[in-house]
Amino acid sequence: MTGDTWAVHGGNRPDETTGAIRTPIAMANSYRLPADPTALAEDDPDLLVYTRESGVNQLGLQDKLAHAERGEAAAVFTTGMAALHGAFFTILAPGDHVIVSDIVYMGTFDLLTSLLPKKMGVQVDLVDITDLDAVRAVIRPSTKLIHTEVICNPDPKVADVAALARIAHGAGALLTVDSTFTPPPLMRPLDHGADLVMHSLTKYINGHGDAMGGVAIGDRDLVDQIKFGALHHVGGAIAPFNAWLIMRGSLTLPLRLQRHCENAQAIAEFLASDPRIDLVAYPGLAGDPHHASASVQLTGGYGGIVSFAIAGSHQDRVQFIDDLRLITSAVSLGHDETLIAYEHYPPERAAGFREPFGDHGLIRLAVGLESAKDLIADLDAALTTVYGPRT
Ligand SMILES: Cc1ncc(COP(=O)(O)O)c(C=O)c1O
Repeated sequence: MTGDTWAVHGGNRPDETTGAIRTPIAMANSYRLPADPTALAEDDPDLLVYTRESGVNQLGLQDKLAHAERGEAAAVFTTGMAALHGAFFTILAPGDHVIVSDIVYMGTFDLLTSLLPKKMGVQVDLVDITDLDAVRAVIRPSTKLIHTEVICNPDPKVADVAALARIAHGAGALLTVDSTFTPPPLMRPLDHGADLVMHSLTKYINGHGDAMGGVAIGDRDLVDQIKFGALHHVGGAIAPFNAWLIMRGSLTLPLRLQRHCENAQAIAEFLASDPRIDLVAYPGLAGDPHHASASVQLTGGYGGIVSFAIAGSHQDRVQFIDDLRLITSAVSLGHDETLIAYEHYPPERAAGFREPFGDHGLIRLAVGLESAKDLIADLDAALTTVYGPRT
């Protein structure tokens, strides 16, 4: 089955009792136990007993996502952060060393650089993940994990997943990859050698800005460890309704991604040719330093995130955001509607950013599914109000 067909049919479990052709939402905390529960297969983490551990909507979604990423198994969680935490919590032990991209989503950054070192005693090195020599230079005998995003959030640098997998495996470590910006069919990190791929399902895979979820996908053995270790006992199971919503949203993922990518490319090109803009970072631009790496790894487009910087004062940039009429100022990404966020980070977090993102702040545009023409008109009008007409 091709990915497009799988997106429509994968993971769906028609209802035996009613004949409903879509899996109904099972809002039940428990499933019927046999009179003799000792006969249950205790080594099956997906056993239908209790919804904190498993549920039919969760199982269908796991099935769908595992196949979409060409992994053996998937563990779905209540949020992307829960999936990331579940994976790190399972893989790492006190004293282990982790190498992490110096640009990753803020929650991941804090989890890996602050919370896990304090609570679990892991040691962490932040590196420019696009500099493979820098990655090799910080490997230690205790290195257990390299973690990166394919396209990094919020400065969209592009990691070379196959090269990182070789470095990790050469050191006896694992490579985990957050592919939230690049869901299938854009990229399948497991095909490039990653050991585990994670997504915030909240973003493109659900796609409608109305449900949160997360997933970790990889070999069955590792995924089962994550389920037993970090899902069953730590909690974080997805609600059946959210699993159902994400399943429904994911039906149109390939089509939506195509539109996200086309719109983002058009907007990035518009901004890059606009003298009012200081810097546009989008791997789809021929002049972007990450274009070549993205072109080798991605199929069908360069994602929906365009980050840019505008000169002028802080107040000018606030005014620009305020003057947008169609584009909404809000965090998150991968929604049907276009979202924009004017983001400022502390120096230690912005150290790896391209300049002037550190100085001017970074404006992250999460391009949606509207007409590119309308989005460009909205950006142009707001820029004109603050900075004067495009010359
Ligand atoms: C790349 C990336 N990974 C993980 C997350 C966390 O996902 P969630 O908000 O579903 O917990 C985000 C959230 O923005 C993200 O952008």
